Amino acid sequence: MIFPIEKLIGAAAAAREKAYAPYSHFKVGAAILTKEARYYTGCNIENASYGLTCCAERVALFKAVSNNERDFEAIALTAGTSEFCSPCGACRQVLAEFGPNIKVYMANKDGEYVMKSVAELLPDLFKIGSCQENRPLDTTSP
Ligand code: THU
Repeated sequence: MIFPIEKLIGAAAAAREKAYAPYSHFKVGAAILTKEARYYTGCNIENASYGLTCCAERVALFKAVSNNERDFEAIALTAGTSEFCSPCGACRQVLAEFGPNIKVYMANKDGEYVMKSVAELLPDLFKIGSCQENRPLDTTSP
């Protein structure tokens, strides 16, 4: 799959312009790329009840998943800052649901980036399989 990372970062930067961030004034954009070279964008969407804010990465991922996408190659994000924008812990866990090998391109305002995999960003992630003993009892069996 050939897809220019610069294009994905450009899509994230364009999505950032649409951010709804009246409280923090910190705008973030993201673009997530499927293995079949489709991409979906997202921006952060804040709320007067601050904790209900959704990050750009999750907006992009949820748009993709709700379009029946499951296999992801990469995600790019930018906050238009001179620093590389790194995903928050919640977004790391949500990305991990769809694979530890997703590449995360963390870009700055100049389009420069660093890349790390989800597994690198979130070692020892929470998995349901690692807590099988806590699963509810199967009430249908005798
Ligand atoms: N934000 C993101 O969109 N992605 C991140 O990974 C970190 C934070 C947003 C949430 C909030 O709207 C603003 O940045 C300030 O925290």
